[in-house]
Amino acid sequence: MATVRELLRSGDDLPVESARRDAEILLGHCLGQSRSWLYTWPEREVSAAQAEHYLQLLAERRRGQPIAYLVGEREFWSLPLVVNQHTLIPRPETETLVEWALELRLPDTARALDLGTGSGAIALALAVERPAWRVSAVDASEEALAVARLNAERLQQERVHFARSDWYQALAGQRFHLLVSNPPYIDADDPHLEQGDVRFEPRPALVAAARGLEDLAQLAAGAPAQLYPGGWLLLEHGCSQGEEVRQLLRDSGFGDISTRSDLAGLERITGGRLRAE
Ligand SMILES: C[S@@+](CC[C@H](N)C(=O)[O-])C[C@H]1O[C@@H](n2cnc3c(N)ncnc32)[C@H](O)[C@@H]1O
Repeated sequence: MATVRELLRSGDDLPVESARRDAEILLGHCLGQSRSWLYTWPEREVSAAQAEHYLQLLAERRRGQPIAYLVGEREFWSLPLVVNQHTLIPRPETETLVEWALELRLPDTARALDLGTGSGAIALALAVERPAWRVSAVDASEEALAVARLNAERLQQERVHFARSDWYQALAGQRFHLLVSNPPYIDADDPHLEQGDVRFEPRPALVAAARGLEDLAQLAAGAPAQLYPGGWLLLEHGCSQGEEVRQLLRDSGFGDISTRSDLAGLERITGGRLRAE
């Protein structure tokens, strides 16, 4: 039987910078133990079945499969979220959007809508932080919605309402105080699509027509009909799309438009307030 130390060593040739860390996460996952447990018990022998499971995951990681899909989970806003090949893996920069949403002065029982919710990341973070808000979320993918509903159940946030919709299509007549979205915004020819985790994520979650601006344009154009006067729209976008998204918001009747940057200083979230008539 192999020991913890020996199994971790067999991950040293993973073709990624984070080889040892990845091996620890995968072995910890297979053993149901934390990484600190692995450090404490390096000589502990691992059962043949657990070792085989670990070596299988290691082989998939060698082929580039994202860690989050291999362990079926990713943390977002300190919430453990189930993810699978039907959902985007939530990114830290999207937490900037959540932070901004929580800073807005909205009614105590505001209605908020997350468009393109994927694993439910943004909607569930808002629901956890603002229990009195009425949070809804839509996605075009039934498979993604199944994951989002599972996450809501695991986090005891079943009051979040999930529905299938092609952007605003199933929401006619409904109004919100806040619309948030991290939509697809990558151009189909962008070379980043062939790199890292992105290769394994669902294309409809990533790619948009018109140099990546098609969905952002639809979301901006449809927003006024779904917002109460004075309501807010916050959109995540690519780091070179800031000026174009600000223009989309101006064209749709928004004021107080600004853009926030991620930790690398790149423009990533643009928001504005619908002018009261
Ligand atoms: C970039 S992912 C964001 C997922 C999640 N909000 C997050 O930040 O992790 C975009 C999401 O938009 C959804 N989507 C794409 N086109 C859509 C459409 N026309 N209507 C509704 N959702 C759509 C995808 O299925 C995907 O879940």
